[in-house]
Order: sequence, then structure tokens, then C-alpha cells
Amino acid sequence: MIRNSQCETGISFVGCGSATPKKIINNNQLGQRVDTNDEWIQSRTGIGERRVIGENESLIDLATDAALNAVKMANWDVKTIDLIILATSTPEDLFGSAPKIQSNLKASNAVAFDLTAACSGFLFALVTASQYLASGSMKRAVVIGADQLTKWVDWDDRKTCVLFGDGAGAVAIETTDNQDGLIGYDLKSDGSKGGCLNLFQSNIFLDLVQGAKHQKGEYLPIKMEGKEVYKFAVKEVPIILGELLDKYQIKPESIDWLLLHQANQRILDAVASRFSIPSEKVLSNLKHYGNTSAATIPLMLDEAVRDQRIKPGDLIACSGFGAGLSWGAALFFWHGPY
Ligand code: ACO
Repeated sequence: MIRNSQCETGISFVGCGSATPKKIINNNQLGQRVDTNDEWIQSRTGIGERRVIGENESLIDLATDAALNAVKMANWDVKTIDLIILATSTPEDLFGSAPKIQSNLKASNAVAFDLTAACSGFLFALVTASQYLASGSMKRAVVIGADQLTKWVDWDDRKTCVLFGDGAGAVAIETTDNQDGLIGYDLKSDGSKGGCLNLFQSNIFLDLVQGAKHQKGEYLPIKMEGKEVYKFAVKEVPIILGELLDKYQIKPESIDWLLLHQANQRILDAVASRFSIPSEKVLSNLKHYGNTSAATIPLMLDEAVRDQRIKPGDLIACSGFGAGLSWGAALFFWHGPY
């Protein structure tokens, strides 16, 4: 069922920001570690290089910088922020990393929590935040997507290690009495197919006392059936986006930008061709960052806003998909500056 945001209060996208690690690892460098090469990676994925968090960096610092950049663009006093949601599957603290970001931002009036939905996480967090705003209980929210999958990648598995990188992106959204910026959205899950892509706990039990064991807190590296995830994405993303466009009677040619989770250039191209969207309208920065999981959508948005491809009033068709399996789509207008 498609939910829509036709509530009394509308939502306006007024700021965005991003931050990425300093260290760049290109495909040729990866070829020194595993049996791969630039030609294979570029032709199958579109990825040329990725960024990896190094010793003097942290996911929380990147997420804080991304959020701060979004708040500055929105020209907000940090004390007016009501809500901070961090979409991540790779928190520094399993109890939640968002409160640390809240404290770094000095956003003392904001409640902050983490949300996990893998590569769909940013979209799920955006929709969650929009509910608080649409209900009228809150006015300003920062939604962050940030992930450090490089710490969970098996760097000796060439089928997965070439795909992922680290990064953070954020948006600032607020209530508005004017035109609702979030036209509509839909979110979906299919846990029965969750085995295609996991970052699962290890099943190790250690002795506790005589006759009792306790489970060791530890996770296994990312495991992925690439072909299955690929087939899922190229099937489900056009369906969910198509249903949204139909519901709001928006023709694909009216879309200014197609903003998809950056997993693979071939997935972007396949979805665009289903709607006959020309490549100039398909946002892609996979070449430089690879798949940064929950960060890809706000990272791409921020790049295209700051280089003035996306202009105030532009209509953006957005979709995220990934582990869970989970997927979602949203149609929104960019109302921020630039
Ligand atoms: N370098 C060189 N050769 C490789 C590499 C590599 N890095 N990886 C795999 N190969 C080889 C395989 O061993 C295989 O060789 P074989 O035929 O001798 O066995 C051959 O290339 C083809 O492998 P496939 O796995 O069939 O390659 P495919 O064309 O399916 O591409 C890929 C693999 C890029 C992973 C693709 O399936 C894909 O992008 N899937 C979607 C993945 C995705 O989007 N995941 C993220 C979801 S988001 C989230 O929630 C984290």
C-alpha cells in the first residue's frame, strides 16, 4: 500500500551536507590485494575508487560534519533542531551513535537515535522523521545516512570487497505551510529473502560458569549473493517507483533527477531505461565512492546541489534498496538554496 504525506503540515527540504574520508583506494590498488582489475570492476559496477576511514577519522566525525554542513546550508540555530536520526548499519556504539552526534552539534534540544535498514536506511529514516514533522509534534529534523562498511568487508573476497566504501550525508528538513516538499513515498521489506545479503553475528558460545555458556558478541564479514541482489533491485525499484508516479499522476518525463542508491551503475542504467529517463538526469557518483550504504543518497544529493545541477524547485525521484531485503521510494521537491 502506498502511504502519502497529505497531512496538514508539509515538509520542506532546506539543507544538505556530506563528508567523506581522506584515504582513496583505487581499483588498481585493490588488484594488489585480490585477483581483480580496473577493467572488470569498472565494466561490471562503474566503480573506479572508494574512500576508507583511516586511523585518525571516525564515522561519528564524518556524520557530525555532514549534519553540520546541512544545518549551515539551512541557516538554522542548532538549538532549534528537534530530531536527529542516524541511519547506519555500522554504528561505533551498538547502543546508538546518534546521541554523540547530537552532543557534537550542541543540538541540546534534539532527541537523537539510530535506525538500521542497510542501504535503504536513509530513505527509511527520512520517512520516519517526516512523520514526526507531519504530525506537528516536531518542526526541524536532521536525517543522516552514514556507514563504514569497510570495517565489515572481507578484503580477501573479490566478489564483495570491490563494491563498498565509507561516507556520510545528511539533509535538514522542516515543517512548512507552503507546498509539501515530500509528495509521497512507499517502503517495503521481504525478510524471506534476507539471506541474500547479511552482516550476521557469529555463532560462538563461550563457557560462562559450569553448565552455562554465553554468546560472544562478534559479527561475520558481509556475505552477499550479488546476482540475486542485482535481480531484486532491477525488478523491485521500477515497480515501487512506477506505482508512486502513477499514484501522483507524474509522468517520468516530469522528473528532473533520478536519485537511486548508488550500488552499481548497471542497476542505475537499467532502472532509468525502464522509465526512458535520459542519462543526463540520472545522478551517479559511484565512480568516486562505490557503495557507501545508507550514505549514498544524501552524499549524491549534496554533490548535485552544491555543483548546482539540482536547482530549487526540482523534482527528485528517489529509491533506496538493499539488505533486509528492504526497499523504498520517495518523490520530493528540493526547496533549499543554490
Ligand atoms: N574481479 C574479477 N573477477 C571477479 C570479481 C572481481 N572483483 N568478482 C567476481 N569475479 C568473477 C567471478 O568469480 C566470476 O568468475 P567465474 O565465472 O569464473 O566464476 C565472474 O567474475 C562473474 O561473477 P558474477 O558474480 O557472476 O558477476 P556479476 O556480473 O553478477 O557482477 C556484482 C557481480 C558486481 C556483485 C553484481 O552481481 C552486483 O552488482 N550485484 C548487486 C550487488 C549490490 O547491489 N549489493 C549491494 C546492495 S546494498 C546493501 O544493502 C549493502
